[in-house]
Amino acid sequence: MKKTAIVAGARPNFMKIAPVLRELKSNNDDDFLLVHTGQHYDYLMSEVFFKELGIREPDAFLGAGSGSHAEQTAKVMTSFEKWCFEKNPGRIVVAGDVNSTMACAIAGAKISIPVAHIESGLRSFDKTMPEEINRIVTDQLSALLFTTCMEAEINLKRENTFGNIHFVGNPMIDSLIYISEKLDGKTLDDMGLDKREYCLVTLHRPANVDDRENLENLSEILNGISEIIKVVFPVHPRTLKNLEYYGFKEKLKNVLMTKPLGYKNFIELEKNAKFVLTDSGGVQEETTYFMVPCLTLRPNTERPVTVTEGTNELCDLDKTAVLEKVRIIIGQKWKKGSIPDFWDGNAGSRIACILADW
Ligand code: UD1
Ligand code: UDP
Repeated sequence: MKKTAIVAGARPNFMKIAPVLRELKSNNDDDFLLVHTGQHYDYLMSEVFFKELGIREPDAFLGAGSGSHAEQTAKVMTSFEKWCFEKNPGRIVVAGDVNSTMACAIAGAKISIPVAHIESGLRSFDKTMPEEINRIVTDQLSALLFTTCMEAEINLKRENTFGNIHFVGNPMIDSLIYISEKLDGKTLDDMGLDKREYCLVTLHRPANVDDRENLENLSEILNGISEIIKVVFPVHPRTLKNLEYYGFKEKLKNVLMTKPLGYKNFIELEKNAKFVLTDSGGVQEETTYFMVPCLTLRPNTERPVTVTEGTNELCDLDKTAVLEKVRIIIGQKWKKGSIPDFWDGNAGSRIACILADW
């Protein structure tokens, strides 16, 4: 029987495939091959998640690395196609919305290998966001569409996708629950932080951090918050490069900046933060699960359930607007939120069951 290729390439992919692999492993490990495209390659952007989430060694590492969108997508496509010709997988499973997701979906679909998409149907309706293009293309090419929320199914039907839609819940939450069981308070102790006495920040969207004016604005926002509460900022490599290039890094004097954090360290900080300031997709979902207030510095979100049901709110890149919301949070007047349906730790097993019968 032909094997199923499961693909991952960048940080947010690893949390999404880990629970599926765990479930598949308990079924029949030999039926699956794990492919790492190499889009993310630093230890703290990749390997640490394999260790902490118990993901097995990839069967193939494509080494795509960084580049412009076209360069990176092309590198993943050509190397993945070559690998497919050699290994002849019967099916391909991709996750999320990064360039590796779309590249492998295109490469596979063009040589008639059926594709399954984990986390399909999310839409920001903003095509200036590179991920939106990746989402639309991947969903159009996928025969199995695994969704995390009700809105996703509506979006997919509107676009007349041909694949079978399965509302399976959110595998990111499976990983969150998995790692939460291992938290021991050590991260807070090591960093000298007290519960609910700090704000956690992550920023890496090109629209926010590649643009000089927006990055300067963000730096002022962080400095403003640091006058109210401690600010902890694990810095994504894209953001670090730009903070250094534009000379804003030195200006963030009272902000505790760190390298990207491993998953356990990051989740411990996230769970115990007073609030989180972010532009990440996954972090919006995780804070909703933890019921920690989240301010998302973006004009839109492909995860509206985190706003309508969860603790998330969108916020303009405007210091006054952000500080106003921060004061509401500190004054304990933020919404409490609830956990969306099927964000229950069982998405991986639902996906694995469907894959087993595919
Ligand atoms: C990518 C995804 C984005 C996702 C993010 C998660 C696309 C289009 N974007 O953005 O959806 O939210 O990952 O973190 O796929 N770099 C390193 N070390 C690494 C990886 C990257 O230093 O291990 C640096 C390189 O300078 C690189 C830059 O970060 O040029 C950007 O990396 P890239 O993968 O192109 O995009 P991300 O911003 O990470
Ligand atoms: N994350 C992490 N360490 C960090 C920042 C984020 O482990 O320093 C985790 C976070 O908990 C979430 C995932 O990375 O599970 C989100 O990835 P990212 O924000 O890079 O991508 P996005 O979700 O925006 O695509």
